[in-house]
Amino acid sequence: MADKRITLAWTGASGAPYGLRLLECLLAQDYQVFLLISSAARVVLATEHGLKLPSGPQAAQKILAEHLQCDSNKLIVCGKEDWFSPVASGSAAPKQMVVCPCSAGSLSSIAHGLSDNLIERAADVVLKERGQLLLVVRETPFSTLHLENMHKLSQMGVTIMPAAPGFYHQPQSIDDLVDFMVARILDHLGAEQTLVPRWGYDQRQR
Ligand SMILES: Cc1cc2nc3c(=O)[nH]c(=O)nc-3n(C[C@H](O)[C@H](O)[C@H](O)COP(=O)(O)O)c2cc1C
Repeated sequence: MADKRITLAWTGASGAPYGLRLLECLLAQDYQVFLLISSAARVVLATEHGLKLPSGPQAAQKILAEHLQCDSNKLIVCGKEDWFSPVASGSAAPKQMVVCPCSAGSLSSIAHGLSDNLIERAADVVLKERGQLLLVVRETPFSTLHLENMHKLSQMGVTIMPAAPGFYHQPQSIDDLVDFMVARILDHLGAEQTLVPRWGYDQRQR
């Protein structure tokens, strides 16, 4: 049976709707999601989506479960220094992790193996265990430092997926643009997705 457990980290890059939609899709597919939220991600979520989350993981979990109307047993929000979380150890961590959105700061910390908070530690664990790590990086333009960090991680097998939605599916709304990115992430995770028609199939008439 497939291991339907995944670690999802939200960091303080613009693009909170991507992270929220990805969480919603994973929970809808019955994944158990260990959700890690940086302090800056909470600021971005409030700014971009109007959703204010408390810093306490249990209170945040309750609010998110209500917001998404999901089974709260499948959603586990972990604290910044919850070193006893399964994601903190190779013996228990899910094999897949997505950082979405991923800030340039978290990109750098992960590239340098800082492990100073649970997001960095969880990423370090996935790297050392040779799991699957996806970083949905958002910044523009990229500095040489950003590009070097992405290059370094890419060489280690990390999938760098810049938050750069396409337009060839003829988006009619912001939700369509968000779904474009989330669909590509779900594809890479091997999860189901019917959010966006696949290229060459079900194309709209021009
Ligand atoms: C509303 C808002 C939007 C931001 N957008 C970005 C962004 O798109 N990319 C980025 O790298 N940092 C962005 N930042 C800055 C990061 O949040 C900041 O560098 C933070 O220290 C990152 O910490 P974290 O990686 O632990 O979440 C933004 C901050 C705010 C408040």
